[in-house]
Amino acid sequence: MIDSLLLTDQFEWGCATSAFQIEGATSADGKLPSIWDDFCRQPGRIKDASSGQTACDHVRLYRDDVALMSELGFRHYRFSISWPRVMDANGRVNPAGMDFYKRLLDELARHGITPNATLFHWDLPAHLAGGWLNRDTAYRFADYAQLVARELGDRLPRVATLNEPWCSAFLGHDLGVFAPGGRNRAEALTAAHHLMLAHGLGVQAWRAIQPDISVGIVLNPELCDPATDSTADRSAARMAEMERNDCFLNPLFGREWPQELIDQMGERQSDRLQGDLTICAQPLDFIGLNYYTRSVAQAPMTTEESQRGYAFVSPDGRTAQLTDIGWEIYPQGLTRVVNNLTRQWPLPPIWITENGAADNAGIDRGLCDDDLRCAYLTAHLEQVAELLRQGHDIRGYYVWSLLDNFEWAHGYSQRFGIVHVDFDTQTRTPKKSARMLQSLIGTSANPSH
Ligand code: FCB
Repeated sequence: MIDSLLLTDQFEWGCATSAFQIEGATSADGKLPSIWDDFCRQPGRIKDASSGQTACDHVRLYRDDVALMSELGFRHYRFSISWPRVMDANGRVNPAGMDFYKRLLDELARHGITPNATLFHWDLPAHLAGGWLNRDTAYRFADYAQLVARELGDRLPRVATLNEPWCSAFLGHDLGVFAPGGRNRAEALTAAHHLMLAHGLGVQAWRAIQPDISVGIVLNPELCDPATDSTADRSAARMAEMERNDCFLNPLFGREWPQELIDQMGERQSDRLQGDLTICAQPLDFIGLNYYTRSVAQAPMTTEESQRGYAFVSPDGRTAQLTDIGWEIYPQGLTRVVNNLTRQWPLPPIWITENGAADNAGIDRGLCDDDLRCAYLTAHLEQVAELLRQGHDIRGYYVWSLLDNFEWAHGYSQRFGIVHVDFDTQTRTPKKSARMLQSLIGTSANPSH
């Protein structure tokens, strides 16, 4: 039973995807390479040695995919725009690439589905020298934001600048598991700073063209519990939360980073210029929060961990329930994290922009019974209802993801879709979870039923 608080006309039910994970057509119609195209070519980077070259072939099949989301009852769709598809190396529009999004928006409009676009979901153009380590990239992002505002802005009611900048900065530059694969703590902090600068410059550039459209950012804040009650583990957990939360939320509200983070930059502190904070702190119309799991931290042991100030403890399947990717199922973390954040920062209205589970259940006699995902989604929706009961301003919930897709360094080995994709034939089969959400959304569209 789902709480009636979620079944009102105002509450938005949506599904989410991102460009690189579903589109394919990575070099068609003048699309330039992104850092993820390059990363996939490096041996050993992607678990199943796959790439985004075909993915869900969505550039070709987008009409079917929009029809499918409509059939499932979704009235809201979160997707991302591929920067290297729509902009050429000279900063001009690539008309063939931009045309894909115009056609996608036409198709969404035909089905009465409201678009919710993200400008940057990690597929940085590879030709931008130095990537996020180069301050100039933040200014190039503003040019890109302005180009999208001019070309598509009047048809996009809500736009997020960045998706989960923590991943671009720390998975990409410290832990080395995401493109571009760097392993340098100080550089990761520089990347984080430049990403937040890009956000601020991007918001300014967007509003110069489209002042009335709702603009925000999507973060993946962390709930980090200490492994034990020792002072060392507790301060490690706090350090992990600083990196994940304060590092991104402080600049959004014009607050300095905690000194611990600044110290970790060493000589790269000079990358933070006077006045940057004012640029980062543009008024926000909304914030998107992505939530999957919590983490547990302990005091650092190796030199590398000491540079970070914490070490993560891998979840243990004997004591906790895990999804197929190995992440702990911890629904109450969603309520805890939203409460932690609203206590510390003056958040604007919140959308849960991603929530979902890796459940690799396959097709059996034409059906896919993803019971783990059904249970996961139900438990997390109960927490969304709890947050509403507590009075938090949560406006919508987007399931990750519409389709099984390219799960970054895991390639196609982890399935997050509510719709199964056979990557040999591109056949789509809605799973049990899709039917579950379909009936929920149906109830919310007709609350009297
Ligand atoms: C999030 C990403 C999304 C997807 C899910 C599983 O961190 O934003 O692209 O990979 O995790």
